[in-house]
Amino acid sequence: MPDWFNATTYNTLDSGIPALTTPFIHPWSLPGPVLRNPAPTLMKTPKRLLPLVEEGLVDEVLSQLMSGKEASVFIVRCADVICCAKVYKDAKQRSFRKSTSYQENRKVRNSRQARAMEKGSRYGRKMQEEEWQNAEVDALFRLSAAGVTVPRPHLCHEGVLLMDLVGDGEGGVAPRLNDVEMSEALALDYHARLIKEVVRMLCAGIIHGDLSEYNILVGEHGPVVIDLPQAVDAAGNSMAFEMFKRDVINLRSYFSTFAPALGETMYAEEIWAYYEEGTLHPDLPLTGQFTVDDRPVDVDAVLEQVELAIEEEALRQMFQSDE
Ligand SMILES: Nc1ncnc2c1ncn2[C@@H]1O[C@H](COP(=O)(O)OP(=O)(O)OP(=O)(O)O)[C@@H](O)[C@H]1O
Ligand SMILES: [Mg+2]
Repeated sequence: MPDWFNATTYNTLDSGIPALTTPFIHPWSLPGPVLRNPAPTLMKTPKRLLPLVEEGLVDEVLSQLMSGKEASVFIVRCADVICCAKVYKDAKQRSFRKSTSYQENRKVRNSRQARAMEKGSRYGRKMQEEEWQNAEVDALFRLSAAGVTVPRPHLCHEGVLLMDLVGDGEGGVAPRLNDVEMSEALALDYHARLIKEVVRMLCAGIIHGDLSEYNILVGEHGPVVIDLPQAVDAAGNSMAFEMFKRDVINLRSYFSTFAPALGETMYAEEIWAYYEEGTLHPDLPLTGQFTVDDRPVDVDAVLEQVELAIEEEALRQMFQSDE
């Protein structure tokens, strides 16, 4: 096993995430050879993975899993462990997610960096790249620590994220949710589990931002959430509820084609109400029911309350200055 495997050697920028001191291993992503047929001849090491091979972080590149919109994903061997290496594409090859709503409130180091990013200079673009990659690593570390079923991250080096390879429990790589046969009972079960996952994520302050049947793998023990570079800070983004609702509605739309009863549920609104109230926690029983309060607002009553509060405050200050 490589010596970095259970340590947090990930080189992030001011992530502020406390290092994990106790390693933990999710049963659905146990390290180990999960490949039924490891490629007999190794593939030529792709250029972007060379720095990791040179650093001794990766021993061999076994095969390419796929090339998506945002990244290419490889299966690699690190000592006696098979891992997944996600190689981020350049910003110019990427798609929609550069939108400002995702970037809102993301931490950058200082105003010089913020200005460079706004101007789109070479340095600015590099900063933006790092910020994008770190957002996924940060989210994975935080979510793993919060007990969310995500692949355990190991490190991020030169634009490559090394993480657990999610297996299917039979020696193969886990399929995407979209590619799995679904019965009504299974749809109800997976939907309930994923609602719990989004609650856990929100309790950890994170909204996935692109949750769908394409960004969920079905591991040996059920759904595993992946693909988080666009993850959003729930507390600091003015579009947080809209993004959260979209994630939850994506789950509802997908699963309700197999389990129509889910079509009526309103988990997003219900969960968000608890979140705003400050009472959300992962074990809270949820119903999926929510009554939207669409009564017209009584403006006079609100103004009366505001005036009362102002008067009260003025009186309080008067008494304070008398003391
Ligand atoms: N940890 C992992 N274990 C197993 N397979 C993985 C893992 N991470 C990614 N994959 C595979 O690689 C694919 C692409 O990964 P991901 O969704 O993170 O990247 P992406 O560039 O956003 O791709 P896409 O554009 O298809 O969404 C996933 O659909 C999945 O099949
Ligand atoms: Mg994806």
